[in-house]
Amino acid sequence: MKFYVTTPIYYVNDIPHIGHAYTTVAADVLARYKRRQGFEVFFLTGTDEHGQKVYDAALARDKKPQEFVDELVLRFKAAWEKLNISNDDFIRTTEPRHKKVVRDIFSKLIAQGDIYKGEYEGLYCVTCENFVTESSLKEDLEGRKLCPVCGKETKTLKEETYFFKLSKYQDRLLRHIEENPDFILPVSRRNEIINFIKQGLRDLSVTRTAFSWGINLKEDPKHVVYVWFDALINYVSAAPDGFWPADVHLMGKEIVRFHAVTWPCMLMAADLPLPKTVFGHGWWTVEGKKMSKSVGNVVDPLALADQFGTDAVRYFLMREVPFGADGDFSMEAFKARYNSDLANDLGNLLHRTLNMIEKYCESKIQNPKSVRAGHCPAPTIQILNEETPKRVEEAMAKLQFSDALTAIWELISTANRYIEEEAPWKLAKENEERLKEVLFNLASALLTIAEQISPFMPETSAKMLEQLNISGGKIAGTIVKKGNPLFPRLEK
Ligand code: MSP
Repeated sequence: MKFYVTTPIYYVNDIPHIGHAYTTVAADVLARYKRRQGFEVFFLTGTDEHGQKVYDAALARDKKPQEFVDELVLRFKAAWEKLNISNDDFIRTTEPRHKKVVRDIFSKLIAQGDIYKGEYEGLYCVTCENFVTESSLKEDLEGRKLCPVCGKETKTLKEETYFFKLSKYQDRLLRHIEENPDFILPVSRRNEIINFIKQGLRDLSVTRTAFSWGINLKEDPKHVVYVWFDALINYVSAAPDGFWPADVHLMGKEIVRFHAVTWPCMLMAADLPLPKTVFGHGWWTVEGKKMSKSVGNVVDPLALADQFGTDAVRYFLMREVPFGADGDFSMEAFKARYNSDLANDLGNLLHRTLNMIEKYCESKIQNPKSVRAGHCPAPTIQILNEETPKRVEEAMAKLQFSDALTAIWELISTANRYIEEEAPWKLAKENEERLKEVLFNLASALLTIAEQISPFMPETSAKMLEQLNISGGKIAGTIVKKGNPLFPRLEK
């Protein structure tokens, strides 16, 4: 029972923003969920440290590239710590363990004729580190040739290079995609990739000679490996024995093509098994606009976490949009979710329930007589309490994080409604047996909620369990320990 999940390795010169945090939190939720299911999990993230973009950025700051990346990697490590990311390893492409595997794969492919020497002449986008074809270009009014993905100006390259025979693997790849409906998800991305492959794959330039920052070839040291060819191999170079192939590669939609075309062809050539699923999630805009440094609207997840707590950030990212679709971030939407879902729904439920157990039952969850087999009809809260873990499981199997949270929040709303309907403050005067039953049902629901949110909001889950103080799953007889409200309401 092994499970291997990855994030992309991020360009080390970026500042971690909510786009990076999104993929990483999603992978973390999945990793934690699978661990709880009993899987031996390997969760990998890391940084992409070679290539022209990083090299240019280092030069612009008068730094040696290695010094530059050594400094910058710390930002990513600190960000993931702050967001409570439970990665099992962190790979940097400048590490010897990685370089060795890249060189070995490269040599194997040269030896078997899948990589051959030639010359590349064409356009290149440094921002995307991607070769751009004439037919896909966008031109602006001044006739500048722009990258179709990021919109930045491309530049013309003409250099000696080694090519990888992508074309040779085209039919095999297409067959694999057609025979494995879960290989590329969601379906819209799968269709895009199928169309792209059907237009015909061209051999890919996989070395550069214009600069030296990268992994140089044993066979021809003035060539450094193309940064994507280098970076993709991280998933294999970091995998502990017995973990390859990966179960899920998570990433944003803009880099699915590298993961669903280039990468599987490289693996086929290297005689390695293909990952089971490549999932391309959507993009976040900020108040309707593309997030960009020049616009100045880049959202810093760490500042959000400082202000509202790590779990609120994790919750928002996973809840706000279905995984796979695009989403929009705004402070207004963030605060609205915080107040309604976290402060009102979840925070209040815990606080109110513990308050009542404290007040009416001397902090002890009582064993109610009427909660027994055949007690009928069972209130909705009991039914949902049993069904929620199954619903979460179904959603998680499809990587539908927001559906999993919706299912948990249905239990939370039902429990809040149950309090209103049963009015324990009245039962306290009129019907002690029923009061015990109601509080017992609420405590059971809270236990389920705490367990089910734990992959998403590990700290909140732990705090809930601490306040509930239930051990070994035995609810009745527990003395609860009410604490401070988990999510104090934000004022406007
Ligand atoms: N270094 C490559 C990946 C190599 S993987 C072998 C790379 N790095 S990146 O720093 O640009 O990070 C890209 C990832 O950041 C995307 O896959 C996506 O996960 C995330 N996002 C960046 N901006 C984003 C949004 N605005 N919205 C959502 N995610 C986006 O590409």
